[in-house]
Amino acid sequence: MRSYDNLICPRCGCKLSRNGGSLYCFFKHCYDIASSGYVNLVLSGSKTQLNSGDNKDMMLARRRTMDRGYYEALANKIVEIIADYSHDDILDIGCGEGYITGEIARAYESANVRGADLSKSAILLADKRYKNASFIVGNSASLPILEKSVDVGVAVFTPTYFAELERVVKRGGIFIKVNPAPEHLLDVKELLYEDTYLNEEEIVECGGFELIARYKLDDTFTACGDEIKDLLQMTPYYYHTPKESIERVSAMDKVTTRLSYDIKVYKRNEA
Ligand SMILES: C[S@@+](CC[C@H](N)C(=O)[O-])C[C@H]1O[C@@H](n2cnc3c(N)ncnc32)[C@H](O)[C@@H]1O
Ligand SMILES: [Zn+2]
Repeated sequence: MRSYDNLICPRCGCKLSRNGGSLYCFFKHCYDIASSGYVNLVLSGSKTQLNSGDNKDMMLARRRTMDRGYYEALANKIVEIIADYSHDDILDIGCGEGYITGEIARAYESANVRGADLSKSAILLADKRYKNASFIVGNSASLPILEKSVDVGVAVFTPTYFAELERVVKRGGIFIKVNPAPEHLLDVKELLYEDTYLNEEEIVECGGFELIARYKLDDTFTACGDEIKDLLQMTPYYYHTPKESIERVSAMDKVTTRLSYDIKVYKRNEA
């Protein structure tokens, strides 16, 4: 279900209310609701808008790979974790083309499930497909979300700003953070590079939150023919690897790789 509740004005921070096809704050700053349903809450001309997340080609490659089952095990695990906590209001931060947001919304039909991403291309794709969730163009570093309104925050492979999460997640609410585990896509790296390295663990300052659970999830994914290029294009290596190496691996018949996720569950302090 589309919801425009609990949004704030990116210009002045006041709560937004709906009037017809637009959202307004107390000072009459106005944001139009697109005909498909999403709202753009990144100020036009702002530095963040000009440097705005992943591009359309990356998103389309991501969408095609998702449709081949890439994230199925991860989405199931996130849905399972959410079941143990209050989940009326769920926010997927840096949601990309919306696969995880859509799966959460499918599992929790009565919840208000929202995805936010800085990339307009990503939100256009997400909004068009996942009609049981709501989507905004928004910056995780300065979320256009009302304070203490979110029961469950989710962030999968995207930058996290704990100060903002501390502001928007309800006391006692949770935040699920997914990072690549050391062996994630190791087989792809071994094909691309002579010397491979394991992913490093992210160390974060999570003020206002306590780590209450941690899971390692392992899976495998096989890409054949043209699917390999899509798989490569949704990794950071695609843009930092010599073209010849990308072309060599893209021309292979089949690539099977490990997917390995580090899933952390944080609880927002009650005090
Ligand atoms: C690797 S993709 C992950 C997308 C999605 N969570 C998934 O796992 O499929 C990273 C996403 O973070 C978004 N992103 C990067 N910086 C952001 C920011 N400051 N605010 C919101 N989204 C951001 C990008 O646009 C991109 O969609
Ligand atoms: Zn305003």
